[in-house]
Amino acid sequence: MAESIAFSKGSEKSVIYTELLPQIESLISVETHLVANLANIAAVLKEAFNFYWVGFYLAKKGELVLGPFQGPLACTRIKFGEGVCGHAFSTSETTIVPNVDEFPGHIACSSASRSEIVVPLFDRNAKPIGVLDVDSDKLNDFDEADARGLEAIAALLANSFNN
Ligand code: SME
Repeated sequence: MAESIAFSKGSEKSVIYTELLPQIESLISVETHLVANLANIAAVLKEAFNFYWVGFYLAKKGELVLGPFQGPLACTRIKFGEGVCGHAFSTSETTIVPNVDEFPGHIACSSASRSEIVVPLFDRNAKPIGVLDVDSDKLNDFDEADARGLEAIAALLANSFNN
């Protein structure tokens, strides 16, 4: 297994996402355990983008339960449909929130969080199984490059959920 990831520091986000994708694919191809793979993906994204908070919530009995993450302590359970995470999960839509104070029902795990993107995760039968959540301590920090990049990473995981 590779011990580190390579990416062009200081490049456009879209370039970095493109560089990361095959490395993440290779990383998760040699490991079948879901939590191990989610943990490494959170670590890769933290290292590459220095996100304030990046991690996973996994669906269980009507709630999203905290999974592997990097960053400050986070809320452990979010009901389907609640908060940005629950919204993205329930609508199956990537959700970009430029200012969390303007999103009705935003759940403030950390008062430092200012903007957020949440990407739904699906298994290989297209069943929603969780979300990938990224928070920033800056306003308006996420755009289409993040949406496309994180969705591509989420798509790599589809086979991991049925194992
Ligand atoms: N802000 C999220 C909660 C999760 S934390 O950001 C880690 C939400 O509104 O769903």
